[in-house]
Formats: sequence, C-alpha cells, structure tokens
Amino acid sequence: MNHEYKQFIENKCEMCRKSDAFSPDLYTKYDVKKGLRDTKGNGVVVGLTSVSQVDGTKIIDGVKVPCEGELHYRGYDIKDLTRGFLNKRFGFEEVSYLLLFGELPTKEQLDEFKAHLIEERKLPVTFTRDVLMKAASKDIMNSITRSILFLASYDKKPLDNSLENVLRQCIYLISVFPMLTVYSYHAYNHYINDESMYIHRPDSSLSTSENILRMLRPDKSYTYLEATVLDLALVLHMEHGGGNNSTFTTRVTTSAGSDTYAVIAAAMSSLKGPKHGGANIKVMDMIADIKKHVKDITDEKEVRKYLNHILDKKAFDHQGLIYGMGHAVYTKSDPRAEVFKSFVEKLAIEKKRQEDFQLYSIIERVAPELILAKRPNATSVCANVDFYSGFVYDMLDIPHEMYTPLFATARIVGWSAHRMEELITSNKILRPAYVNMMEHKDYIDIEDRE
Ligand code: MLT
Repeated sequence: MNHEYKQFIENKCEMCRKSDAFSPDLYTKYDVKKGLRDTKGNGVVVGLTSVSQVDGTKIIDGVKVPCEGELHYRGYDIKDLTRGFLNKRFGFEEVSYLLLFGELPTKEQLDEFKAHLIEERKLPVTFTRDVLMKAASKDIMNSITRSILFLASYDKKPLDNSLENVLRQCIYLISVFPMLTVYSYHAYNHYINDESMYIHRPDSSLSTSENILRMLRPDKSYTYLEATVLDLALVLHMEHGGGNNSTFTTRVTTSAGSDTYAVIAAAMSSLKGPKHGGANIKVMDMIADIKKHVKDITDEKEVRKYLNHILDKKAFDHQGLIYGMGHAVYTKSDPRAEVFKSFVEKLAIEKKRQEDFQLYSIIERVAPELILAKRPNATSVCANVDFYSGFVYDMLDIPHEMYTPLFATARIVGWSAHRMEELITSNKILRPAYVNMMEHKDYIDIEDRE
C-alpha cells in the first residue's frame, strides 16, 4: 500500500469510527440485546428445536443458578451416548443417524446408513486435481468452503430445496467432507510447504475417523486408541444447539431459501472465526507461549503467576483472556470437556506427553479461580471443549491448520439436522431489527457540499 492510499484508508476508517460509535448507555436505553444476549449473557430465544439441548444453569426457587453442564442429542445425554459406543464400535456414523433422523438406529438401520455413506463417498472425477489442488491455501477452511461451492456445479439439482433433495445433499456432503478436509491440507502442504504429495483413497471398510487418519498419514497407519479418540472428538463436536454462531448462520441462510451448498459455505465462514471454531488454535498458541515462559510447567505456583500475567494483559496476546476457559452457556462444567478428559489422559500416556497433560490439568484447576478473582461479576467459569481438543489433535500429529476443519467435519451433521428442521418447521425468513441512530438530513447538491 503506498503512503497516499494508506492515509486515505486511515482517514476513512476514522470517519467510519466516528459515525458508528454509540455510547454503551444507548444499548440499555433501547433494550438492545447486544450479541443477541441479555444483560446476564443469556441468549435471546429465537426458535424451537428438538435436535439438541445445551444447559449450564437451572432454576431453583425461581432463581437461575449455575449447574454442571448437560448436553443432550435428540433427548439422549451425551455421556450415556458416548458410554454406549466407546470401546465397542465407532460412534460417528451412529450419532449422525441419531441427529439427522431423531432416533437411535437398530443394527440393520445403521448398516444401511453406513452403506449409503460409503456409496456417496465419491468426489466428481478429476475434482481433486481441478479444484482441491488449485490455488492451495494455508487457510484450509477457505479451501473447503470454496470446494463445497464448486460441488454445487456438479449437482444436477443444486437449488432444489425439497426435503428429499436436501437430505440427499447433506448425506453427500457429510460423506465427502473428510476427503475435502484432508486433501485440501495435502494441497497446502505440497504447494506451500514444499512437502511430498500423496493422496490416499478412503477405504470403504473403515469408519470416518479411521479414514481421516488413513488419508492424512503417509503410511496410512494409526492405532485403535488414536482412531477412538478422534471418533470421540468428532461426536463431541457434532452438534451444539441452534444458537451457536455457525448453526444460527445455517438457520438464517436456510430461512432465506438458499441452497444446501451455499448454506453450508456460510456456516463454514462462521465456524472459522477464532471466537467460534478457531478457538482451539488460540489455546494451543497460548500453551506454547506458557511453555516458552514458564521454567517448570509442573510447578503450580509458577503457572499461576504466568496465568495472572496473561489475565493482566501483560503476557501472550495481551487480550487478558485465558483461552479454552468459559462458555456462553456452560457455567460449572462443559460435559464435552469432561468426557474428553479421561481419554486425553490415556492418549497422553501412549504418546509420552504426561508433562503436558499435567500443565493442562493445572490450568484447568486454577484458571477459573484466577478469572473469578479478577472479574467479580462472573459467577462460574469452566474449561470448555476447545481447551482439550487442540491438545488431542496435537498428540494425534494432526497439523494445526486442520483443527477447525475437523470441527467442521463433525459439525456439518448438526448443520444438516438444523437445516432440515428449519425447512420443516418454519417458512419465515429470519429478519431481526436495528434501532435507528441517525438524524435525518436535507439533501445537498454535490456543488454545495463542503
Ligand atoms: C460450539 O460447540 O458451537 C461452541 O461451544 C460455541 C457455542 O455453543 O456457542
């Protein structure tokens, strides 16, 4: 940017800041629910759903109080669901069936669904070469989003929003998503990192998580524990109510009558934000920073001291935030982080990363107390699922660039269920309102303007 243009940009930004700056009192005056939340942080109710339920508080004697977090998929507690399949079979396909169709599958129904997923797991001929390998980017989320939009060109009925066609499109996207994710990474790794290129085809006898590891690794190998932990991560990230930003985006764009490819691309654009699906990368960056600055990461006193520096904006990214702590809904605990933790420990032993696990455990234990001491208004803070997911992916040797794409590989199931629910239950375009803050002015001819 040359100096003159830089000045222009700076001046215009200053003009924008002036005309768009509203005093915080105005939000109170007009009862505007900033961030679609009330003053206590509760989300504004905008719809009904039976896909999942996220709870972090309960009412006792008419008062809302923090409680242990609960997550239900189609009525089933996530803890019961994961207990049901863990160490017996992989859960991704079974829980996808539950979220999409509302009921747990019988063995025969599950086999039938898996057969359809396998049948659909085919990218158009030369798609890998013509789309995925083109204009490789470090930003894998952008690469996948672009590929999703390209896939619409190969669909004979891309704009047909009948439920039957939408379900077909959703199953197709769920099925090919792992290929879009892994192959986009390989394109980046080859063209930008100058590493060797290899494209492994998925194996129809394997589960989704096994196929991801098989396609990602040069020698296609993985352990049962690795595939189990990845499968669990996918199930835990699959769905989180209608109010999370990307699912709400799904419902907003669906309500406008957009097609499946455009809706999922919009949801992807939301999920990639560091305040949403990109959060686990921030956690990993913060952990790396702590390891760099704290001499003994197993010494609670030292870790505590550094976390306080982070909260005082004196360390890490100077934002005053301990990433992976706190959630819009959960207060005392995030059930997903709890389910995850026992497996994280097992994996840490297999990967000889016990010292790192100790650091995570210290932060999880002390951070809520430190945060609450600095923010007297907050009532309860807990580690969320992002706190551990980055560590898990790191132990699985999954590159950072793939963390958010893996979240998307799972969340597309929830997006699909919500898209169908929006189509079935509502035919009204989502259209909230903004309070006007401008004064009306008389028009001035260009010759008379100063
Ligand atoms: C999610 O899983 O979508 C995140 O925890 C964010 C949210 O629920 O708002």
